[in-house]
Amino acid sequence: MKTRNLLFVAMACMGLLSPMHAGVLKVETPNTQLVLDATEGQPLAMLYYGDKSATLEDISNQQSAVSNQMSAVYPAFGDIDMIHLPALQVQHAGGDLSLNLSVQNSEVRSQINYDELCVTLRDKLQPVTVRVYYKAWKNVDIIETWTEIEHQEKQPITLKRFDSGYLHIGEGDNVWLTHLHGDWAAEAVVTHEPLTRGLKVIRNTDGARNAHLDAPELMLSLDGAPEENNGRVIGAALCWSGNFELRLNAPNNSGIHFYAGIDPQSSEYVLAPKQVFTTPRLALTYSTSGMGGVSRAFHKWARSCGYLHNGNATRDILLNSWEGIYFDITEQRIIDMMNDIAAFGGELFVMDDGWFGDKYPRNNDSSSLGDWVVDMRKLPGGLQALTDAAKERHIKFGIWIEPEAVNTVSELYEQHPDWALQVPGRELKLGRGGTQLVLDMTNPKVQDFVVNMVDDLLTRNPYISYIKWDANASIQNYGHVGKGYSNNLYIDYHLGLLNVLKRIRAKYPDIVIQNCASGGGRANYGLMPYFDEFWVSDNNDALQRVFIQWGTSYFFPSNAMAQHIGGSPYQMTNRVIPIKFRCDVAMSGRLGIELQPKHMTDEERLQCTIALADYKSLRPVIQLGNLYRLNAPQSYQPVSSQFAPAKQDVAALMYVTDDKEEAVVFAYSLSNFMKQAPQRIRFAGLDPEKVYTLEEKNIRVQYNHDKNAWDAGTPCALHGKQFTGAYLMSVGLILPLCTEYTQDFPSRIFYLR
Ligand code: DGJ
Repeated sequence: MKTRNLLFVAMACMGLLSPMHAGVLKVETPNTQLVLDATEGQPLAMLYYGDKSATLEDISNQQSAVSNQMSAVYPAFGDIDMIHLPALQVQHAGGDLSLNLSVQNSEVRSQINYDELCVTLRDKLQPVTVRVYYKAWKNVDIIETWTEIEHQEKQPITLKRFDSGYLHIGEGDNVWLTHLHGDWAAEAVVTHEPLTRGLKVIRNTDGARNAHLDAPELMLSLDGAPEENNGRVIGAALCWSGNFELRLNAPNNSGIHFYAGIDPQSSEYVLAPKQVFTTPRLALTYSTSGMGGVSRAFHKWARSCGYLHNGNATRDILLNSWEGIYFDITEQRIIDMMNDIAAFGGELFVMDDGWFGDKYPRNNDSSSLGDWVVDMRKLPGGLQALTDAAKERHIKFGIWIEPEAVNTVSELYEQHPDWALQVPGRELKLGRGGTQLVLDMTNPKVQDFVVNMVDDLLTRNPYISYIKWDANASIQNYGHVGKGYSNNLYIDYHLGLLNVLKRIRAKYPDIVIQNCASGGGRANYGLMPYFDEFWVSDNNDALQRVFIQWGTSYFFPSNAMAQHIGGSPYQMTNRVIPIKFRCDVAMSGRLGIELQPKHMTDEERLQCTIALADYKSLRPVIQLGNLYRLNAPQSYQPVSSQFAPAKQDVAALMYVTDDKEEAVVFAYSLSNFMKQAPQRIRFAGLDPEKVYTLEEKNIRVQYNHDKNAWDAGTPCALHGKQFTGAYLMSVGLILPLCTEYTQDFPSRIFYLR
């Protein structure tokens, strides 16, 4: 496709979506713009995506000088120069693989909060229609794009490739990619790499969860190595919970071609005549203030544009039973734990796995999923006794379920073996516990079963206010009973799941639902519109959590990130970490506790009580403030050489309110060596003119030898001191971390006002 010069009519841009020249359309957010040429009868072309400094004349003049660039908005196979990769490829009923799409018309829908542009494209030969959408938010720099594909051919057509969006980035060789790679218990490892020539693919093929290994979000820093607060950065998040593919193609001299969509591998979608296939949304942002700007845009969008359920609300402080007692649930243990969380000042108790199963009690992970009835041997008073006890203690009550799963050892499987995904005739591949299977969420009967199960649980137990929705298996058996192999399974599974979540949300908009998938395996914006938060990781080791939470914060806001104070030594890593550090790390997101309180020392109990009380006063700033990452933990090096002690390795971040009146700073020392050079931390996001008073929070408790007991500690020397925002941001502070503690993992929290 050739770039077209714009014949310019210098018309002032009016409103957020302005018809400027016949066919030239502009979509705008507060600080960004996307300019298209949608001339009727012509291919739809992208002229510009970036900040608002570019005038239409600038854009036109630049376009005229780069004739080798592909400007298609949605490059289709057959339409573009075949050396480029397509974003769309269909196989027509007759077998032909090509499309020649041209603009039929465009339409703008203006709403209070956003403008939505739809450009309809038609194939010149076959009755195939593609609608390309752009939704530009008025309060945040996010543009969502997606497509609808429809046809009226006589037989089904096959969608062989059907990306949600494509972006051409006309930059040279100094673009850096930032993405999250990880694993179970090691989620969201930040990877920064220069984009080299050739094709880079980021993909997840788990089937049911899509954020453990590779996640469907990325950033592209256009000015070289990424920086937190400087440089032009594009951010992208594919709002989809299933398999995806993000492709970055950098051929010789035409910049970078970015494609994002559902992974078509084993998933070429068979589309019946008149059926509409809607691709998931791709959320795009463009920042001129580095990666931090991209993160803040995603956080604001998630909270205020419906991509995080109840996004602008703060979350309760909870105790979850899992790492404290695992499957060993008894009524007494649960009531004891409720007493403990109430005594700490917590607000919610969540009973995790292990409470259900009649014929097959859930005593370990090898049975009972699907049998959502209370195990009366463990809980003789049923759920009623527990919810009554919670009510008496003035705390809320939550419960764990794994609705999409079944064990072969369960009554559900005995009754409906056909409800599990399986390849008829083939041996079952069994997951967790050696018996776990995934239910067939494409089956309407299974969807009804899940909706009714949740409905029943909540109707019978109206005091339940929180659900932890877990998903601990990938799709290993690619097939359904009755239908055998189906091309559409990977996709229809997630459409079925979304259907279930929509039905539950329609009836229960106020229940808090946590999205959990063996930790953070489902942290994605396909599901978060229905969930209030997600479990960041099954790894609760506070040191590793600094890293995991750091990476997760690139795309997800703090009130969505469930962070719990774990035990020590921590069972996965055997690391001993002081309670102060464990509290401080958990307090930077949605705070909870996950350990057996009965085993806590007096020191731990007192520190936790202080942490919870302080957290309550800081909660609105932490959970709803704007995040500034100050010092990355990635620089973690034990010591550079024996003779040159390393700089103290500090990870630091802060939250600032919109009016910049209040902020909370977290600083964690990740290595503790004698004679380390101190580390200066420069704050960000403050008002340079304002004078801020520092108050230390969650002060480390100290042993009072006179009283023979643990007592409130004394704050550090910075407590009560005042600094201008300008000083804090340009000079910064050396925080008392290494000098004042004789303990490993020193950390501090400061409230600024
Ligand atoms: C996996 C979750 O990530 C854990 O938090 C816990 O809920 C277990 N499942 C329970 O089986």
